[in-house]
This record gives sequence, structure tokens and C-alpha cells, in this order.
Amino acid sequence: MDISKEELRRRMIAARTAMDPADRARSSRLAQQAVLESPEWARAQTVLLYIPVRGEADTAALAGVARATAKRLLLPRVEQAARRLWLHRWDGTAAQLVRGAYGIPEPRADLPLEDPAAVDLVIVPGVAFDRRGCRLGYGGGYYDRLLPRMLQAVKIGLGYAFQLVDCLPAEPHDVRLDGVATERGLYRFPTAADPQPE
Ligand SMILES: Nc1ncnc2c1ncn2[C@@H]1O[C@H](COP(=O)(O)OP(=O)(O)O)[C@@H](O)[C@H]1O
Ligand SMILES: [Mg+2]
Repeated sequence: MDISKEELRRRMIAARTAMDPADRARSSRLAQQAVLESPEWARAQTVLLYIPVRGEADTAALAGVARATAKRLLLPRVEQAARRLWLHRWDGTAAQLVRGAYGIPEPRADLPLEDPAAVDLVIVPGVAFDRRGCRLGYGGGYYDRLLPRMLQAVKIGLGYAFQLVDCLPAEPHDVRLDGVATERGLYRFPTAADPQPE
């Protein structure tokens, strides 16, 4: 890696917030469509979403379809002191959201808590993703602590094609994602079980 995580974060966040709103909306629509067309989505009963901030790809279409098809929707709530995420049931409406840590809209703390092990599909936000499934976040390690507890979940990053880079520094605490959805479609990362080139 030639550039530091910090520098990559800065560049990616700057590029994301500079996106034209129409372009962001179009790319978000296509990325969500790729998720909605996947067998992973069709199979999932319990889905963990996020609410976009700072130019992150929108998830409203996923929330709408989940609601319409009676999937169980969850959202994370940040506990900043412990650097951890609590998962709460969410009805998919803005009425159940409050402004939380880092200015992120989050579910009210009185909504029912859910066990991470119950999640079938997690839609993971990120600052950058690489072709092995490694992910760069904002630096808090929140998802690094959550993902290992989601034993059965399919883990799919949601973002824009420019956020997909060749290689991020892999760290021991990294839990690899299964794929990333962008405006170019759903890219599934190769796993150790896939056939290797000779
Ligand atoms: N599973 C974990 N348990 C405890 N601390 C962790 C865990 N995963 C990551 N961390 C810590 O969280 C911090 C941020 O991790 P990093 O991967 O740089 O951030 P991000 O994934 O948000 O970009 C690091 O100090 C890292 O050691
Ligand atoms: Mg990390």
C-alpha cells in the first residue's frame, strides 16, 4: 500500500461528498437493485441495514422492499464509549429514528434489541473495499467488532465503484466481506474454496 489508511479515507470521503446528487441517486439505485436481484437478498429473513451519512450509498429502496416483503429489518445503534454497535428492530420508517453519535440517525434505544447471530444478511457501509473483501471504515473499528458475532450472516458492502480498490492493508481483526454491490453490480469476492488458477 502506497498511501496510508488516513490519506485513503480522506480522499474517498472527499470524492463521495463531492458526487453530484443526481449521480449519487442513480448509483445508489443501481447498487441497491443489484442487492435486490441477488439470491442472498431473496433468502434473507433478517437484514441489517444502515442509514447513509456523508455521501454513503442510499439504502431507502432496500428498506422499502424489506418492509413490503415482511423481512425483519435491523439498524445499528452506536455506543461510543464502548465502540460497539447494538442492533435494534426497525420498522423502516423515519419515525423510529433519532440522531445518534457522529450525527448518524439511529433507532431509538427503547426498540427491541436483536442478537447479531440472528442476522441473515448485513449491508455494510464503508469508505473503501478491496477485491479480497477487506474493508476500510471511518477508523472506529465498529464493524470489525460486530462482524465476527454475525455467524451466519452474508456480508455485503454497499458503495460506489470508485470505492473498490485493488488492495487495502489486511489486518488480523478483518472479517472479509462476501461481496460488494455498486452501480456496476454485485461483485462476489473469491473465497478459499473457489478454484485457484494453476
Ligand atoms: N475485534 C476487535 N476488537 C477490538 N478492537 C478492535 C477489533 N477490531 C478492530 N479493533 C480496533 O479498532 C480500531 C480501528 O480499526 P480500523 O480497522 O483501523 O478501523 P475501521 O475498520 O473503522 O476503518 C483499531 O485500533 C483496531 O485495533
Ligand atoms: Mg477495520
